[in-house]
Amino acid sequence: MTTGACLASIGHQVTCVDVDAAKVARLAAGRVDILEPGLAELVGRGLTSGRLSFVVGARAAVAEADGVFLCVPTPMGAGGSADLRAVEAVTAEIGDVVPPGCALITKSTVPVGTSRRIRELLGRDDVPVVSNPEFLREGTAVSDFLHPDRIVVGSDDLAAAHWVAGLYDELAAPSVVTDAASAELVKYAANCFLATKLSYVNAVAELCERLGADIEAVTEGMGYDRRIGRSFLKPGPGWGGSCLPKDTHAMTRIAEAAGFEFGLLRAAIDENVAQRDRIIAKIAGAVGGSLAGARIGLLGLAFKAGTNDLRDSPALAVASVLAAHGAELTAYDPAVGGELPGMTVVDDAYQVAKGAHAVVVLTEWAEFRRLDWDYLAELMDGDAVVDTRNLLEPRRVLDAGLSWQGIGRARQALFPTAAVS
Ligand code: UDX
Repeated sequence: MTTGACLASIGHQVTCVDVDAAKVARLAAGRVDILEPGLAELVGRGLTSGRLSFVVGARAAVAEADGVFLCVPTPMGAGGSADLRAVEAVTAEIGDVVPPGCALITKSTVPVGTSRRIRELLGRDDVPVVSNPEFLREGTAVSDFLHPDRIVVGSDDLAAAHWVAGLYDELAAPSVVTDAASAELVKYAANCFLATKLSYVNAVAELCERLGADIEAVTEGMGYDRRIGRSFLKPGPGWGGSCLPKDTHAMTRIAEAAGFEFGLLRAAIDENVAQRDRIIAKIAGAVGGSLAGARIGLLGLAFKAGTNDLRDSPALAVASVLAAHGAELTAYDPAVGGELPGMTVVDDAYQVAKGAHAVVVLTEWAEFRRLDWDYLAELMDGDAVVDTRNLLEPRRVLDAGLSWQGIGRARQALFPTAAVS
């Protein structure tokens, strides 16, 4: 939907097809259900301009297309590999009605070799297959699409690859035009690099705690090095979401199938589990050692701020282990409501503090920074605050008479005692 609305906004005529008729009806009426800044406006403008439409029924929709983008899900399948059934099903559905010369373009994250597999399934020489991975982050997807760092396009039909790259000319971004396998690998290589960077930072944060250093200062010092860069250096409860966990697992399988044991990536995945376990241990320590019967208030459930997406959320992973150990959980997330297993979801941050032995920040929503910690302290039954996102100002929490622990922020580094001359 984001791809469709954004392509329409840069001048293309776009028809979006889905199998879910109710979803299509909502979108055709301009109703966007996901929390994605700017998307509803773009869908509205696309519908009004006539450049964007939503329909059910792929065969009719592709009959006169110059290009068809496959944006279907490729979830984690058996054994961690990407499940390509949706890609294969839609290829089979439209294969014989795609007009000659129309490019079939994969947007979904697909294993290396999928373009070749689609070509075999299609069994046609007159339909070029092109890989065009996207690098959109949830919560900033529209802006990422319209201001991309780069456009990556790959095909064994170079003319078709250049034609697809040209669809983005309006965006004036650098483009990498290459073969299909390389383009397919870029997406995995990039996401797995980001996951590895985060696992590395989380491990360094652990070392900071043990050595009496402050991860904020350490990453600031690292980030000014342009070879490292300042982004993706924030420690947390582990990386999650709909892409990094799935893509890291899939890439280890891709490597295995190619006869290569990608030990570095395996270590990054294991480190992510270790990070969650360290967070659990930290919370257990904060409530006196035993989680059984501990009342714990959770601030944040989404896998990151700015989205209501709970898929592979580290917050939920932490919560489920806490619940399994007998903790009583109350949770608040500004973008998440309804019922979730193992916890009571409330609709106000202060309610999680009522009677809590500990309050734990799990998602970095800015509004948590502005909470009245004096009031929270009054509501709580204990005094522990565990900030897994290093979001809060420790001084404000401490001044309210509460205890505070972040990630990789040793107390002696944060509050050094004044030197005595
Ligand atoms: C990711 C990629 O960034 C994007 O390019 C790709 O197209 C899809 O996958 P997204 O899943 O939206 O995007 O999330 P992202 O912003 O990358 O965050 C992933 C996880 O890492 C989240 O759990 C987030 O909280 C965590 N994270 C991110 C950190 O813990 N620290 C950071 O500094 C950055």
